[in-house]
Amino acid sequence: MKKEKPILFTGIRPTGEVHIANLLAAIYPAVKAQDDYEEYLCIVDLHAITTPYNPEDMSQAIKEVAVDYLAAGINPDKVVLFVQSHIPYHTELMWLLNTITSVGELQRMTQYKEFKSRYKDAKAGILNYPVLMAADILLYKAKYVPVGEDQMQHLELARDIAKRFNQTFKKEVFPIPELAKLTEKPLRIKALNNPKNKMSKSLGPKSYIAIADDPDTIRRKISSAVTDTGPSQDTEKMSAGVANLFLLLRLTADEKTYNHMEEHYKNKTLKYVELKAVLAESIIDFLKPIQEKREELLDNIDYVAKVLSEGREKAYHKAGQVIKEVKEVMGLL
Ligand code: TYM
Repeated sequence: MKKEKPILFTGIRPTGEVHIANLLAAIYPAVKAQDDYEEYLCIVDLHAITTPYNPEDMSQAIKEVAVDYLAAGINPDKVVLFVQSHIPYHTELMWLLNTITSVGELQRMTQYKEFKSRYKDAKAGILNYPVLMAADILLYKAKYVPVGEDQMQHLELARDIAKRFNQTFKKEVFPIPELAKLTEKPLRIKALNNPKNKMSKSLGPKSYIAIADDPDTIRRKISSAVTDTGPSQDTEKMSAGVANLFLLLRLTADEKTYNHMEEHYKNKTLKYVELKAVLAESIIDFLKPIQEKREELLDNIDYVAKVLSEGREKAYHKAGQVIKEVKEVMGLL
């Protein structure tokens, strides 16, 4: 008998350029796992519209996220790659889960509080954002979810909702989702220009390296990254900015290069210009094959549209089965 593969789900919002933190925290683990997992990779456009956006740019942004998944090495023959709004069951399940989620727990979410202070007149979509995220994951009965550290609180809530649903309706409908084990701990990559905060599109292009950045842009952004006055302290006291550069080096360079730089740092002989130069070249090399594939795919956007339409069929089928089971258990059929 064919052994069933564990199910993995992740999502990326089409809100502009995909950056290296999105790639390393969410896309890469999915690429690495695609032979061994049944994967649902989603472009979460319904989440993207909870913050101000331009409708004219949205369809291009959606396609570009699909391009980035594929360019990073996702094989559409192995993986279901699709757009959230193409499957109406996401919002249907969200409504059903809303009935077992308390307003208080949603108001406690850090991202909700941040968005609420950033966008004065916060809409209900922002408050309900994590319920939609829980619905995304549970609609495919996913067990493994690769995300960055910033999404851990939402994943925790999805776990609570899954447990509560199973208890309330006295049936183990949902597996309890967890962080995909492929990342040994949740990744938090900091903003290059402001290492107290996470790397994020909302802090402007100087904070992040986009997957599409050309070599000179990468060199410029890394060379102006915030560090400190020099490696005078011991390694434990590495400043946030320098630790962030080392983290990026560990994720993009070979072990030898990383060890060499670390050794230098420990010996207090490392100049940050040198670290930055090595890191910039390492990121450039790391992104080069992805960028080449990206250009090919952008020239062949009909193929990308076909992948998304095939993904829609497969996702629709799976989600349809799960929503039927959920409604039955809730007494709705
Ligand atoms: P989004 O689009 O903001 O980010 C996509 C992924 O990138 C991760 N990420 C980071 N990881 C480490 N360091 C950073 N600085 C950093 N910035 C972003 C995010 O953690 C995420 O994994 N709500 C989600 C999208 C979503 C989702 C889901 C994810 C919707 N439904 C279901 C998983 C499962 C979000 O806003 O991601």
